[in-house]
Amino acid sequence: MRLSTFTFVFITALWGASAQNSYKGFNTGSTFNDGTAKQQIDFNYEMQAAKQLPGASGKFNSVRLYTMIQARTTDTPISAIPAAIETDSTLLLGLWASTGSAGFQNEINALKKAIVQYGTAFTDRVTGISVGSEDLYRLSIGEVGAQPSQIIDFIHQTRNAIAGTSLQGKPIGHGDTWTAFVNASNNVVTEAIDFLGMDAYPYYQPGQDNSVQNAKTIFYNAYQATTAKAMGKPVWVTETGWPVTGSTDGRAMPSAENARVYWEQTICSLMASGVNLYYFNLQSAQYGNPDPDWGVKGAGNILTQSARYSVTCPGLNVY
Ligand SMILES: *[C@@H]1O[C@H](CO)[C@@H](O)[C@H](O)[C@H]1NC(C)=O
Repeated sequence: MRLSTFTFVFITALWGASAQNSYKGFNTGSTFNDGTAKQQIDFNYEMQAAKQLPGASGKFNSVRLYTMIQARTTDTPISAIPAAIETDSTLLLGLWASTGSAGFQNEINALKKAIVQYGTAFTDRVTGISVGSEDLYRLSIGEVGAQPSQIIDFIHQTRNAIAGTSLQGKPIGHGDTWTAFVNASNNVVTEAIDFLGMDAYPYYQPGQDNSVQNAKTIFYNAYQATTAKAMGKPVWVTETGWPVTGSTDGRAMPSAENARVYWEQTICSLMASGVNLYYFNLQSAQYGNPDPDWGVKGAGNILTQSARYSVTCPGLNVY
């Protein structure tokens, strides 16, 4: 009896601690839907809006980027960096890896410039560095991506770029779909990274019963399959979500009610177990009309728009 009480308290304490310490945030692109570059004030508002989500107690204080480059520039560091400093947010950095060696060199240049320009106010906020995003997935479907050997080369370039800087020691990963990580031809990439950034969307798996009621099962099948191929390395969830409006895909129907179901079942369980998590996303529809629309918030002023569904997690005391 004593032992079981002790064990219960101990496990609860561990569980709470890991959930509290995990990274929680949203993905954000460098442009709006119409191609307009996001400026520092836009990133600032996004970061503030994430922290101010009702019931979320400021826990969404991290942002995952896809590029180091400010949109419409060659290699100017992205203005999400000073916005993160202003709003006391952390950053999962991203270097875009599907535009070949010259494009990647611009990413490295922007990364190096940012280290010099912003120093430890920037580098202390970095949770990790993702080299690439869904490059292997796009390659597998015949779109513009990158070969595993190229991703590995870019990972080495990134390690060299941060060696001897205040970013040295930050984990370097690669973000891709779970299907890419379970493909043995890509094992060489997994060997080269410190963490796997897994993207998984039950919505996009119409070959199964992907109704929202079955979405948690589909998600965890993907997560466990990826973990099994992770060579013992941590698996971060770099993208997942459920759309609020748009087309049905298989049995997956976008709605605010279904997004809430997915949040409560899948997202809350990830947070309870302390998995690093970047949701897709806070706002999808600014200056455009995407189908589907993944945003917790619709188009408009991101600070004043109310959330389209609740992002609370009942019973999760650290949240
Ligand atoms: C497996 O990965 C390789 C290398 O990235 C790719 O060329 C191939 O298309 C992938 N296969 C599938 C079934 O996705």
